[in-house]
Parts: sequence; C-alpha cells; structure tokens
Amino acid sequence: MTLLDVQDLQVDLMTAGGVVRAVDGVSFTVGRSETVTLIGESGSGKSTTAMAVQALLPRNLAVVSGRCLIDGVDVVARPAEAARLRGRTIAMIPQDPMTALSPVSTIGRQLGEVLVRKDSGLSRAARRDHAAELLDAVRITEPRRRLDAYPHQLSGGMLQRVLIAMALAIDPHLLVADEPTSALDVTVQAGILDLLMDLQDRTSAGILMITHDIGVARLVSDRVHVMRDGRFVESGEVEAVVGAPQQDYTRRLLDAVPRLGAWEGA
Ligand SMILES: Nc1ncnc2c1ncn2[C@@H]1O[C@H](COP(=O)(O)OP(=O)(O)OP(=O)(O)O)[C@@H](O)[C@H]1O
Ligand SMILES: [Mg+2]
Repeated sequence: MTLLDVQDLQVDLMTAGGVVRAVDGVSFTVGRSETVTLIGESGSGKSTTAMAVQALLPRNLAVVSGRCLIDGVDVVARPAEAARLRGRTIAMIPQDPMTALSPVSTIGRQLGEVLVRKDSGLSRAARRDHAAELLDAVRITEPRRRLDAYPHQLSGGMLQRVLIAMALAIDPHLLVADEPTSALDVTVQAGILDLLMDLQDRTSAGILMITHDIGVARLVSDRVHVMRDGRFVESGEVEAVVGAPQQDYTRRLLDAVPRLGAWEGA
C-alpha cells in the first residue's frame, strides 16, 4: 500500500538573489513499513522536498507544482488538507532536539499537548499515563519521573527519544525524519536509529528519511534516491546504489563519508 506518492514535484523558492529551483521534478513513493531515504550533498534539495510533501513551505516564498498524494489526498492541490494530516497521519522528527522543544515547559506537558490534539477528551491523568507509556516505548528509564523534567535536564540523545515519542503519540502512517540523528554522537545515533526501526516494525509506519550519511542510509533504508541540484541522479535498493554506484556524483558522496566499521554488513 502506497502512503506517499510523489510525481514530478517541483519547487521554486523566492530568495533575495532571485528564484531558485530547489526541487526540479522528482518522483518517488513510500509504502507501509518502508524506509525511503534521500541522500545528497548540502543544498541539493532534500529538506525542501521533505517540507513540500508536508505542505510546510510558506506559500508566499515557494511555488510548488506536481502531485503529492498522502493517503490519497493531493497536498499540493489542497494544502489546507495537509494541515489536517500533519499531527494525525504524518509526523515529523526534527533534526535538532535542543531547539524543537520548549525550554519553559516540562516533557510531560509537551507530550500531553500532542496527545490532546489527537484526542481532546483525554483527562489529565490519562494524558500522564499515556505520556509515560510513550517514554517507556522509546526506552527512557523512570518515565514517570521524566515527565516532570524540563528539556535542559535531559541529554541530547534522551531529548531525541522524547521527540520520537511525540511523533509516536500521533500514531502516524508516515514519519518524515530530516537528519534526525545528525546532532548526536555516533553511539547515541545508532541507538536512536535502532529504536526507529523497532517502532516501524511495530507500527508499520512508512519513513521518509533524509541524511547525508551513507552509513545511516545503509542501516535504515529499503530504497535510496541520490539527489543533486534538485533532481534524483540515481535511485534504487540501498545495497545496489551503495555497492555499485552508477554515477560519479554518488561515488564521490560515498568517498566523502567515512565508512563506519560497526555498520559494515548491518
Ligand atoms: N530559506 C532559504 N532561502 C534561500 N534559499 C534557500 C532557502 N532554503 C533553501 N534554499 C536553497 O534551496 C536549495 C535546496 O536547499 P535544501 O535546504 O533543500 O538542501 P538540503 O539538501 O536539505 O541541504 P542540507 O544537507 O544542507 O540540509 C539550495 O540551493 C538552497 O540554497
Ligand atoms: Mg537539509
């Protein structure tokens, strides 16, 4: 079953220096339980693609065309529908856990707000119970106590787990993760990716993953699309693309990233 079906997506950004075609006609799909990864150098259009499929680009600064079906709804043609899907069908895992959470509100309160958006009839006690269960699901120890913590009291890896818990609170069909681990050190990174894949096994969510790290792409992806200047220059199963890249650009990307021994053969 296809969750996300993108056809000939094109995005023009209005910048101070003129119009930039950040995404230049890309097509891809993400199905249930599938992880599809966009990989490419900085500025190649990965984040713009991710924002466009969630209809998160400001309409006065971005002109989006093409088709982007999420659960059958074209969010390019009907951006208002996308707002309804975000927080219900689609969840986003942001890159930087430090800035994604409010510093003045407890973890429990911030999780509670997400839960209430999903089900406005939840009592305070039910919210707390559910929030603690979610923290437990992302392997945060002593979840009840952590509900009363403020973001600055948790490590970066723990905060990223909280953000994943928030995404899970939505019980999304599609998770969009833009460099979800790049702010974390390598050992924490591996744990978070492991957790994401575990959760995917349980929920059958589709994941659109964005990374510039070939090691991450190898570990999590079913398919990869290699992006350059707003286009896909190479697409395929991750092992095929990484094992036998057809394009010089892909080879250069592979060479630019240190191979992480621990992930070889993963
Ligand atoms: N706010 C902005 N103002 C001006 N240009 C922008 C803006 N955001 C993106 N762009 C331009 O759009 C193009 C695609 O950028 P995008 O952020 O999608 O790349 P990316 O692949 O996500 O890069 P990175 O790996 O650095 O996150 C680039 O040419 C970039 O300069
Ligand atoms: Mg980006």
